[in-house]
Amino acid sequence: MSEELIILSKATREEQYKNLFPQIEALIAGENDLVANLANIAAAIKQTFDFLWVGFYLVKENELVLGPFQGPIACTRIAFGKGVCGTAWKEMKTIVAEDVDKFPGHIACSSDSKSEIVVPLFKNGNVAMVLDVDSAQLASFNQTDELWLGKICSLIEAKFS
Ligand code: SME
Repeated sequence: MSEELIILSKATREEQYKNLFPQIEALIAGENDLVANLANIAAAIKQTFDFLWVGFYLVKENELVLGPFQGPIACTRIAFGKGVCGTAWKEMKTIVAEDVDKFPGHIACSSDSKSEIVVPLFKNGNVAMVLDVDSAQLASFNQTDELWLGKICSLIEAKFS
């Protein structure tokens, strides 16, 4: 495993994801511990894009519970259907909030967060966790993020299903 992440400067978001993706594949290839892999994936995404917050919430006993993350401290538990994360869980699909203040029920862990994307990860047809990414800028996320963060989540699903 390479211990240094290669980050492209002055590249498009798509190019950055294309550069990041194989590095994440390599990062998790030799490690079978879920928490270790989630921790490194959160760090790799945060380091590449300098988003405000990148992390995972895991479904535990009908709640989302905070997992490995990078960024400011965050709320530890989110109920089904609540906030952007709980909505992605309930609707079983990726949710993009271009302006979190306009998202009904948004949970403001940090007042610096302006936009957010949440991608659900599945195990045996159920949501097992979500990847949550917050940005300090409005409308930071689009279909490119949805596509590539989805691909990254598929790597985790393939490894742990
Ligand atoms: N804003 C999220 C809560 C988690 S934090 O952003 C880390 C939500 O509304 O679900």
